[in-house]
Amino acid sequence: MGSAYWDEKMAERYKAFRYEFPERALAGRVVVVAGGTGGLGAATVTLLAREGVRVVVGYRANRQRAEALAKTVEKDTGQKIALVGGELVDPAVRRAYLVAAEKLGGAPAGAAIFPGDPARAKWEELDAATIEASLRANYVGPILLAKELGGAMAATREGGSVVLLGTMQAVATFEGSLNYAAPKAALVQAAKILAKQWKNVRVNVVAPGATVAGMAETSVSGGKYDAYIESGAISKFGRPEDVARAVRFFLEPDNYVTGQVLLVDGGLTLRRDRG
Ligand SMILES: NC(=O)c1ccc[n+]([C@@H]2O[C@H](COP(=O)([O-])OP(=O)(O)OC[C@H]3O[C@@H](n4cnc5c(N)ncnc54)[C@H](OP(=O)(O)O)[C@@H]3O)[C@@H](O)[C@H]2O)c1
Repeated sequence: MGSAYWDEKMAERYKAFRYEFPERALAGRVVVVAGGTGGLGAATVTLLAREGVRVVVGYRANRQRAEALAKTVEKDTGQKIALVGGELVDPAVRRAYLVAAEKLGGAPAGAAIFPGDPARAKWEELDAATIEASLRANYVGPILLAKELGGAMAATREGGSVVLLGTMQAVATFEGSLNYAAPKAALVQAAKILAKQWKNVRVNVVAPGATVAGMAETSVSGGKYDAYIESGAISKFGRPEDVARAVRFFLEPDNYVTGQVLLVDGGLTLRRDRG
């Protein structure tokens, strides 16, 4: 007895070396990029808009930067950007993301959730308030938004894709990174649980390394990571475009990957003990 799921026409195509690699598969669809005005998120917004995606861009408070990004992207790509401001932990803000998506064209086909906070804290200053603030910024807000948007996608026939932003520090152990890395590690576990829970919504994590834009810009430009280049651990620092392409990969509607973490660190965590 044959498989109930076998597609004979597809099998014939492969025997004839005919393959499908859709390009701009998200064109015309709505995708949410929360934290899309930041150093890394803005590159993802630009890449998606160039490919004809209708993007809902979220930010917390810096309206001026959000408007400047929307103006640049709209001028360069002709795509209309919808802006949503406010703190992710606020339920009204999370609902506003869905309302904006509906206005742009319906339930989102994907969501990339960039907000996070470096949560730098000296060991002596680490207390309940500092730990809770990091958890709120790096775990509670992003997960509640994933629940809201992933839940909306799960209710559709097509489903969708949620991409959460982790960090190399959540995958490998870096001294002094407890307050930032531990909530990000929780985010990784949550992504796997959500990937298991939702049948038609894929959930993955992109974990950047030392990247030249956004929250690491001051550390990178100040020389904090130069030793990794000097030791040969990495050949260069990461760029926002590197992260954007990884995020876009997971957002592709016919992507077959779920519950995974993709490190975009140029090999830093793999070779960092060189020296
Ligand atoms: N840059 C790096 O090298 C690097 C490395 C590893 C991991 N990451 C991770 O990558 C993600 C993006 O980093 P980034 O460097 O692009 O950060 P960023 O430049 O600081 O941008 C953060 C973005 O998220 C928004 N945001 C922050 N907190 C928010 C909140 N509570 N509610 C709603 N929106 C909020 C910001 O809006 P406003 O500006 O209006 O506040 C901004 O749009 C983060 O999760 C970070 O941990 C970054």
